[in-house]
Amino acid sequence: MAQTAFIERLPKAELHLHIEGTLEPPMMLAFAERNRVPLPYGSVSEIQNAYRFRNLQDFLDIYYLGTRVLVTKQDFRELTWAYLVRAREQNVLHAEIFFDPQAHTDRDVPFATVVNGIHQALVEAKDALGISTRLILCFLRHLSAEAAMATLEEALPFQDRIVAVGLDSSEVGNPPNKFTDVFARARAEGFLCVAHAGEEGPADYVRQALDELLVRRIDHGNRSLDDDALVERLARDGTPLTVCPLSNLKLGVIESLKDHPLLEMMDRGLMVTVNSDDPAYFGGYVNENYQAVADALGLNNEVLYRLARNSFEASFLPEQEKTGLLAKLDAETRLQKAS
Ligand code: HPA
Ligand code: ZN
Repeated sequence: MAQTAFIERLPKAELHLHIEGTLEPPMMLAFAERNRVPLPYGSVSEIQNAYRFRNLQDFLDIYYLGTRVLVTKQDFRELTWAYLVRAREQNVLHAEIFFDPQAHTDRDVPFATVVNGIHQALVEAKDALGISTRLILCFLRHLSAEAAMATLEEALPFQDRIVAVGLDSSEVGNPPNKFTDVFARARAEGFLCVAHAGEEGPADYVRQALDELLVRRIDHGNRSLDDDALVERLARDGTPLTVCPLSNLKLGVIESLKDHPLLEMMDRGLMVTVNSDDPAYFGGYVNENYQAVADALGLNNEVLYRLARNSFEASFLPEQEKTGLLAKLDAETRLQKAS
């Protein structure tokens, strides 16, 4: 199908990707054996059978179980490398990658082990694959603000490797304003800010993320659509939403991809990007997410081009690098139109 080729060849950035969510079942089993970590699963199919989620919490319970097999620097390096190879195969030229240090430090895996393992793969991928990256530290919002602050302090010696802080995990009952002080300190230290908001939580959490955490992007943001004034504000300010269609489907945020609000978001003037979130758990990397919404919503190539363009524009790259990547996008789409 012509559109599949168009999507595959489209240069793009991925801005909402949890590195722990790229742990494919075969790698989970291999790391469990290597590190002698007991798992309740004995095979790939047993793992896959467990991936039926009614909501975000169902997923998170299994996601945190999976993180327990990640122990050594080598584990983090191999996990990250495997993602970057797959991403580059899908013409991802730039990736901004979340990691959840508290999921590891709470198991006594040192912060340095996590960051150094991931970072080594990022450096290797820049050279060997030509993919640029940034790293975003996410605080687990179901844990306390004090724990988040302690994690921020642990990150300070590694600041040259981490561009931003974010907020993920169980949303409802853990509003952004629980972390106002942590994000203020992060900004004072020079970190950019993003936050998951409006995935399961209400539009007011999106508003709080903007007003209290001063975020540059909203991760997910689906529930913003419930509040017209908020939509107008997001559109006027050009605040990007990092939308994750297959994640939304698998976690019951939408009932069917045909109900996905991506086109409505774009029609209402929002700066939308398409991303994979936790591809090993949700059944697809970034191209499968583009394809899923293209099929369900009947997107034409113009819209797909716009989504790819948004992904570079919404990135944390310096202007000059953005311009270079946008030129690559335009050159590739001109080629495809000509052929
Ligand atoms: N939402 C919240 N927390 C997460 C997610 C998500 O989609 N993925 C990994 N942690
Ligand atoms: Zn996410």
